[in-house]
Amino acid sequence: MGGPSLVWPGADLLLAKAAQRARVPYTLSVAGGATVEQAAKAAPDVFWLQLYRFWHDDHKIGFDLVRRAQAVEAKVLVLTLDVPVRTTRSRETYAGLAHEFRPNARMIYEMMARPKWLLALLRNGYPRFATISDYARPGAGTNEIIAFARARMGGAFSWEEVKRYRDAWKGPMAVKGILHPQDAEKAVALGIDGIWVSNHGGRQIEALVPTIDVLPAIAAAVGKKATIMLDSGVRSGQDVMRAVALGADMAFAGKSFLWAVAALGDEGPGYLIDLYIDELRASLGQIGAQSIAEARAATIRHPGAIAFAAKTRTARKR
Ligand SMILES: Cc1cc2nc3c(=O)[nH]c(=O)nc-3n(C[C@H](O)[C@H](O)[C@H](O)COP(=O)(O)O)c2cc1C
Repeated sequence: MGGPSLVWPGADLLLAKAAQRARVPYTLSVAGGATVEQAAKAAPDVFWLQLYRFWHDDHKIGFDLVRRAQAVEAKVLVLTLDVPVRTTRSRETYAGLAHEFRPNARMIYEMMARPKWLLALLRNGYPRFATISDYARPGAGTNEIIAFARARMGGAFSWEEVKRYRDAWKGPMAVKGILHPQDAEKAVALGIDGIWVSNHGGRQIEALVPTIDVLPAIAAAVGKKATIMLDSGVRSGQDVMRAVALGADMAFAGKSFLWAVAALGDEGPGYLIDLYIDELRASLGQIGAQSIAEARAATIRHPGAIAFAAKTRTARKR
């Protein structure tokens, strides 16, 4: 996620460190509040880097970040494909996120009432988009960095561009935002190792399908050739088990980690990882599964699963 440090100053590295301790993957957003080098240091065994489409100057920023991620031995490169345009997010506007930060009396009162948050702010400074700030003018403020990034990113990745990143990146690579088996097949044909089934946590457009509904068809199409990942709506260990039972190899969570740092500060990410693991263990135990692999073999009912047209045609032929 971009901007976790807006919720709790320094949150990017808190998330990275908690992930490292638990040995679960941590993905730094290109819109994150830490540099590639800082994140790799905090999470040396589990650091993944996510990129948006920085098309400007023939993807100069994108490929430079690939080089830096390679230099710090990031484990996985993730290209997010599902933000071809900036959408209107009225709740962000309503919350004042779209504007220059000008604390009003209520905000100042709220900050004063939360000394731990204030301390985190003093320790970490005002949140900056550190992942890309090196490319902007030295000393540029947050708004200038946002404007700089917005002028250089956007548009849909073409498959040719995905291939260029695939060729540049020497390790495993995932594409995020896949919702159709044909896109998954196309990505795998280009040498992509991980298919990250995501609707961006419902933030881009509400009209999208729930990821759990398209997961079975995508897993059936490419599950033997790629690692299948799922996010968007994962809120518990039980949700992780559901994802696994319907074809995912891994599940990821976004907003719940923001809520965890908002509620518990420094302790939030570690607390939530433990909660996910405990709930996952208990859920597996409850269905009589000794392992994740056994959960995958569980008999399940999912009436919402979408049967895609191509699959239906094949089924009819049979
Ligand atoms: C505040 C916020 C910022 C996000 N920023 C990014 C981003 O920079 N790159 C990206 O690929 N996805 C981003 N996402 C989407 C998440 O990576 C993830 O797909 C989504 O949050 C998962 O759904 P969940 O929040 O229901 O767990 C963001 C999500 C949130 C809530």
